[in-house]
Amino acid sequence: AHRPREFILTAPPALTRIRKAVFPVAGLGTRFLPATKTVPKEMLPIVDKPLIQYAVDEAVEAGCDTLVFVTNRYKHAVADYFDKAYELEQKLEKAGKAEQLELIRNVLPPGVRAVFVTQAEALGLGHAVLCARPVVGDEPFAVLLPDDLIWTRQSVAGGQGALGQMADHAQRTGGSAVAVQDVPRAQTGSYGIVATEDFDGQAGRISQIVEKPRPEEAPSNLAVVGRYVLSPRIFDLLETTGRGSGGEIQLTDAIAQLLPLERVDAFRFHGTRFDCGTHLGLIEATVRYALDHELLSDAARSLMQNALDEMGVVET
Ligand code: UTP
Repeated sequence: AHRPREFILTAPPALTRIRKAVFPVAGLGTRFLPATKTVPKEMLPIVDKPLIQYAVDEAVEAGCDTLVFVTNRYKHAVADYFDKAYELEQKLEKAGKAEQLELIRNVLPPGVRAVFVTQAEALGLGHAVLCARPVVGDEPFAVLLPDDLIWTRQSVAGGQGALGQMADHAQRTGGSAVAVQDVPRAQTGSYGIVATEDFDGQAGRISQIVEKPRPEEAPSNLAVVGRYVLSPRIFDLLETTGRGSGGEIQLTDAIAQLLPLERVDAFRFHGTRFDCGTHLGLIEATVRYALDHELLSDAARSLMQNALDEMGVVET
């Protein structure tokens, strides 16, 4: 029998929705020394939650139920954070502090499991992702870099997180997706930069990706930020990816090898990204979240104003 043409045009491909999210948190975090001598960068708080919690919430909201943390031997704090804290729970329960109890119980919602794998040596982001292979297996998966904090408000994309937006897109195309945002040309040397075909303002197939190009060599000013939906084929490519920029095994280099084999889209998400891997980004995120906070907003606003007024006084 002959299928009606409309059916052929409109039937969505039957594609797998991502269920697993990888959090590479085995970096050294040198930019935040001395704090990161003992506190992993991912545990630095923005108002009341550590960076890792924001990324976990975004992955869970996107539909992920298996969270894979790639850590190293110094990062016990990350594993401890997601572990059950029996004594603390008992104390809060006895003290009748139901709200706080709920907060610590919900670091991982019911039905979501955390798996920890170690990266023995910090050989780069690509290598960290490869360490998650035994847990991820042969299905598409997400990668989230927790130091890229992406803020989505209810008024933007209905409050859907950046990863959820990307997962929807990847499910429609059947390919991989990489989050991008526009950056000033002078900053291309800090990012992976992509060139795209048919970019429609939100998404387009990537034709070229380069790690940290100089502004005069950058193919565009669309920069990759820390959210990816990747085909499992990336693992085979990472196995043979040599050391690239900065002597590290780069995820960007493996994605470049994936381009001729499979569709990889650049996806410009709705939301505001704060680069919490830098001092200023962490400060900016703190200011914004405080100003947006249900209980703290007014007080935060007036203390910031006071600080500006006082510090702005020119001493003569
Ligand atoms: P960064 O480039 O931000 O490096 O890594 P870093 O070590 O965390 O921080 P600085 O630059 O020294 O201050 C990007 C992401 O990749 C992870 C990091 O934890 C971070 O989430 N990563 C990097 C690894 O998991 N393993 C690595 O070998 C390198």
